[in-house]
Amino acid sequence: MTDMTRRTLLLSAAALGVGTLAACSTTQKPGGTPTGSGRTSGKGGRFGAGDYNTQEVADELRYIQRNVRPLPEKDTKRILVTGSTGGLGQLAAAHLLARGHGVVAHARNARRAADVRRDLPRLEAVVTGDLSNLGETRRLAARIDKLGTFDVIIYNAGEYGVANGEILNVNSLSPFLLTSLVDAPQQSIYLTSDLHLGGDLKLGEMREGGTDVTYDDSKLQILTLAMAVARRRPRLRVNAVAPGWVPTLMGFANGPYAPDDLRAGYMTQVWLAEGGQLASRVSGGFFFHREPEDDVHPAVRDTRAQDDLLDAYAQRTEVTLR
Ligand SMILES: NC(=O)c1ccc[n+]([C@@H]2O[C@H](COP(=O)([O-])OP(=O)(O)OC[C@H]3O[C@@H](n4cnc5c(N)ncnc54)[C@H](OP(=O)(O)O)[C@@H]3O)[C@@H](O)[C@H]2O)c1
Repeated sequence: MTDMTRRTLLLSAAALGVGTLAACSTTQKPGGTPTGSGRTSGKGGRFGAGDYNTQEVADELRYIQRNVRPLPEKDTKRILVTGSTGGLGQLAAAHLLARGHGVVAHARNARRAADVRRDLPRLEAVVTGDLSNLGETRRLAARIDKLGTFDVIIYNAGEYGVANGEILNVNSLSPFLLTSLVDAPQQSIYLTSDLHLGGDLKLGEMREGGTDVTYDDSKLQILTLAMAVARRRPRLRVNAVAPGWVPTLMGFANGPYAPDDLRAGYMTQVWLAEGGQLASRVSGGFFFHREPEDDVHPAVRDTRAQDDLLDAYAQRTEVTLR
């Protein structure tokens, strides 16, 4: 799908009242599940269908289980996926596991860790930490380091439709803290969104301790962070992915409508992580469905804006990226 088609779909959905993944500060998810305290568990079908996953995600997890075959052991890697208890993170983790990689999952709490252990029993480990609490994010960084170094970290965890302060912590400050505090992997992959185009870096807000950072702002921040890290760490591979508007719980946040392909939404991360093709072995790339995405906010490739964002993160968190 072209960018124009995607954008037209987003706009027509908004006009129809279906809603988009635009900035908002509501506190309810579909089905009235309160957000912020973690989703319910144990009540849904296999793979959390109707509970912490949509039926589409549960069906895709079943597809992976039945159809994906392992790589030769020499080609396997050690990979951490944040926010891998549901949606795209769980799909990427499940696919990578089925390919024979060593995968460590991340859950917000012990209850969700038990869910993902049950869903993906071959996981090497599950680390816990609620990213809406930056103290927990710092402790999570120490827990990750205790597990040794990773070849790849996929910064996938994200929130939408919660208060802006929580969006800021989960979508932006936590990936910055983890990037800065955890031993750097050979490759880092950051999940952003097309909606970053409507965002603002909100540097003043960041420096002054404010919390008025919308979903779109947070996705511009994480994409700019990814490109800044790629430039600061030239010997490592650092890329970003916009997965499209796909039918996960987040994709269905405003109603059961999501026009993009679910499999394409997580396979770019798998493709980058495995690095089996020349086109996937780059750094500083921003991808949509395995293709370079040219439709990008001007701040993302602006080195001064990148440095300003890193300074604002450092001022905010008292942690400096090395
Ligand atoms: N779906 C889309 O259409 C779409 C479009 C553009 C970009 N994206 C991006 O893709 C990524 C994955 O989204 P998704 O659609 O898979 O969303 P999802 O189904 O809502 O899954 C989000 C994952 O992040 C975890 N998470 C959320 N808040 C957390 C917290 N405070 N602490 C720890 N973990 C937390 C969730 O844990 P729980 O299961 O416990 O909630 C879950 O594992 C996000 O970064 C999102 O912004 C998605």
